Amino acid sequence: MISIAAALGRARDVIAPAEARLLLRHALGASAAWLEAHRDDPLARPDAEAFAALVERRAAGEPVAYLLGFREFYGREFSVTPDVLIPRPETELLVDVAREKLGGSGTANSAKTLLDLGTGSGCVAITLALEVPAASVAAADISAAALAVAHANATLLAATVDFVASDWLAEFTGRRFDCIVANPPYVAAGDPHLSEGDLRFEPLTALACGADGLDAIRRIVADSVRHLEAGGWLFFEHGYDQAAALRKLLAAAGFADIEQHPDLAGIVRVSGGRWPGA
Ligand SMILES: C[S@@+](CC[C@H](N)C(=O)[O-])C[C@H]1O[C@@H](n2cnc3c(N)ncnc32)[C@H](O)[C@@H]1O
Repeated sequence: MISIAAALGRARDVIAPAEARLLLRHALGASAAWLEAHRDDPLARPDAEAFAALVERRAAGEPVAYLLGFREFYGREFSVTPDVLIPRPETELLVDVAREKLGGSGTANSAKTLLDLGTGSGCVAITLALEVPAASVAAADISAAALAVAHANATLLAATVDFVASDWLAEFTGRRFDCIVANPPYVAAGDPHLSEGDLRFEPLTALACGADGLDAIRRIVADSVRHLEAGGWLFFEHGYDQAAALRKLLAAAGFADIEQHPDLAGIVRVSGGRWPGA
């Protein structure tokens, strides 16, 4: 029988050491501290086989989050399956911006309405529902499978979110919101990155949208004006090279007070504006 240390050593030949430890912990249901304290213990055959299968899948490129079945976002664990985009750290910026527009938690003016378009795992909508409990949060996705994951996450995290199956704003006739946020697909359809790394395993409908990646954003900008309260905000996460296009699109549609928020590297990844009203 092989020891834990030896199994980790073998795995390190094909995948990163930190990933090997995570996958072994997952196979054993063990904590990091337990693993460290039991490095010389023998690994039972079924556990060794389960670990080897995970290592093989990771070595073939499957994202760690899909193998583990979860990813952390804004300090909480979200279940993920290959039906949803894996939540990204950069999307926390979209949450920070929306949180500020909703008035943050516990403030007098926080009884606002928010809609998250393209909710995927539900990470944005659920986080905002939990961080701003007075806000009323709705979320939409065109994918029934993604909505099932988002529902399950809301239940697990005890968040109240009104999930709606909708092609962007199509099912929201007559409804208006104080804030609409979206992390839509924004990669150009022909971008070579789509056939590299983790992206190969994520749903293409969550990633790519039109020749310049802006088709979904153009449609949401145009349609959102019928769904924002006067003074309401619209914010997008977008690609590192799309800030100028976003500013133009928002200004052309009549949005005021356009804001562009840089990430920690100084790159604008969130843009939006205020709808002054018809
Ligand atoms: C980039 S993912 C974002 C997922 C999640 N909000 C996040 O930040 O991790 C884009 C999401 O938009 C959804 N989507 C794509 N086309 C859509 C459409 N026409 N209407 C509604 N949702 C759509 C996809 O199913 C996917 O869940």
